[in-house]
Amino acid sequence: MAFPQNRLRRLRSSEPMRRMVRETRIDPAGFVLPLFVVPGEGIRKEIGSMPGNYQESIDSAVRHCEEVRSLGIGGVILFGIPETKDELATGAYDPNGIVQRAVRAIKSEVKDLLVITDVCNCEYTSHGHCGFIKGDDVDNDITLEWLARAALSHAEAGADVVAPSDMMDGRVAAIRSKLDGGGFIKTPILSYAAKFASGFYGPFREAAESAPQFGDRRGYQMDPANAREAMREIQLDLDEGADMIMVKPALAYLDIIRMARDRFDVPIAAYQVSGEFSMIMAAGRNGWIDKDRVMMETLTSIWRAGATIILTYFAKDAARLLG
Ligand code: PBG
Repeated sequence: MAFPQNRLRRLRSSEPMRRMVRETRIDPAGFVLPLFVVPGEGIRKEIGSMPGNYQESIDSAVRHCEEVRSLGIGGVILFGIPETKDELATGAYDPNGIVQRAVRAIKSEVKDLLVITDVCNCEYTSHGHCGFIKGDDVDNDITLEWLARAALSHAEAGADVVAPSDMMDGRVAAIRSKLDGGGFIKTPILSYAAKFASGFYGPFREAAESAPQFGDRRGYQMDPANAREAMREIQLDLDEGADMIMVKPALAYLDIIRMARDRFDVPIAAYQVSGEFSMIMAAGRNGWIDKDRVMMETLTSIWRAGATIILTYFAKDAARLLG
């Protein structure tokens, strides 16, 4: 039937009506807030390009996690900035590294908050690439051993989930077998399966001090033009034992999230990355857009596309607005 019998505006007439028929609901339990942990004590330094986000020492991160939990947010993902960087990314798999110590402190002091660790080397290498450099390229197979050791050290520290973000081939299998060998058969892997070589990571590289000193990451991260290849990446990671997969960035890749949702029956995470956050914050501060409104609109679009989990720097703001 058509107009005038059908009038879609009837169900839009008031907020209670709109609320009742709403198809997509946002639950902070699906949010994950990224945290940047630095050595030292009493440090809480705001990241210039990411207002409201900090490089913070472990004591501050623990208090921060209390706040995050009290807002009903599902978890945090930890990134570490080590004291020193070297060619072998030693800090990434040091049992006493910055992330390993942060996990221990948070897990012993904050209950009922999932602690996810980002497993990568770019914050720990002097050259800022995600693995071992041979010639002018990252050597895939040597890097796998670093990643597996890092993941095991995170699990030993108490991480609830490990999340490899390096985009080496075969890393999920290497990590799974190392975790299982170490007795961590229950630790899930959230793989950054479809991670694109994106300009939206700009502010993160300031936050994590991980900008590559030469070249770029196009030799390992995906070409933004490829959707079918993203499905292959996801399939391979699932075959290797990934428990959950991620699409990253989110807003410019909603089609990838939707395709993945329609094909794979696993939890799908989407990472609303630093550049997505900073653009909205900057335009909001200029009075060009309503920041809260656009924040909720983008988060809704990511859920609607099919995400189960959203990693977002807006986690606290959005949870407060919903609460
Ligand atoms: C590490 C990593 C990056 C991000 C998450 N993990 C940076 C990169 O790949 O260059 C980006 C997150 C963001 O921009 O918020 N490899």
